[in-house]
Amino acid sequence: MSSKIRKVVFPVAGLGSRFLPATKSIPKEMLPIVDRPLIDYAVEEARKAGIEHFIFITGRGKGAIEDYFDHAFELETTLSERSKSEALAALSTTQLRHGAASFVRQQQPLGLGHAIWCARDIIGDEPFAVILPDEVVRHERGCLAQMVDAWGDKGGNIVAVAEVPDDQTHQYGIVSPGDDDGRIAEVKGLIEKPSPGTAPSNLAMTGRYILSPEVFGKLKKGSLGAGGEIQLTDAMAETIGDVPFHAVRFDGERFDCGDKAGYLAANLAYGLAREDIGPRLLELMPGIINTLER
Ligand code: G1P
Repeated sequence: MSSKIRKVVFPVAGLGSRFLPATKSIPKEMLPIVDRPLIDYAVEEARKAGIEHFIFITGRGKGAIEDYFDHAFELETTLSERSKSEALAALSTTQLRHGAASFVRQQQPLGLGHAIWCARDIIGDEPFAVILPDEVVRHERGCLAQMVDAWGDKGGNIVAVAEVPDDQTHQYGIVSPGDDDGRIAEVKGLIEKPSPGTAPSNLAMTGRYILSPEVFGKLKKGSLGAGGEIQLTDAMAETIGDVPFHAVRFDGERFDCGDKAGYLAANLAYGLAREDIGPRLLELMPGIINTLER
């Protein structure tokens, strides 16, 4: 078994219906936080965790993601001829090593578990990471790097979790914790989107996973779970007892960018933190708030 997490899967086939009409003609993963698309933040986090191969599970209409990580010959040549070095430098995060990206189409929207299963041949028999790009975590080292540390210690499966209020547990996969040192908890059970009032805890999975390849054997069965979809949560739950399984409370500020308010909050937080636009944004904010109060 590999002693390193080398590969990450980004499930990016979703319709983005919560952001229509914007997502009618662009993938939701291409919506920007300030000036970089959501997917770029996910790739950056994976890089910081030492990931070498990036697997995108795409679908129809998601070509812009593939183009984003490609060499843009005309654009780069034009910028270079015009000596626009700053603009050229901005493209640097979009360059993945040759051969370091794979794009697989999920031909039917059968659920997150099915999306991950589509990566089985590219992953092979080694542990791997999953990042859901609409969950953004602002942290110097990144959330996945913190999870890789925990994996080095515990092995097996690792999920990132955050405490959510009681009235939100039905929106997430929820962990049933065992031994808990306040940062890392043993995972005794998992339930995807429990009915209100039935969650075993407030520890919600927040879109970051390190998984042992055993999960593919469970996903292969194609069992349908919550919402009539093949759920990753259910397949992971079946591996409890076979592989060590832990939940990590990570450091960093989390933004649920699948939600409009969360997405706008991320734009404000990242914008305010930027030296080039933060001060100007801060100056503009009281004016916006005053207009609301009038
Ligand atoms: C997915 C997972 C869920 C997790 C959530 C985090 O749900 O199935 O377990 O808690 O992402 O954002 P989705 O939000 O895609 O319905």
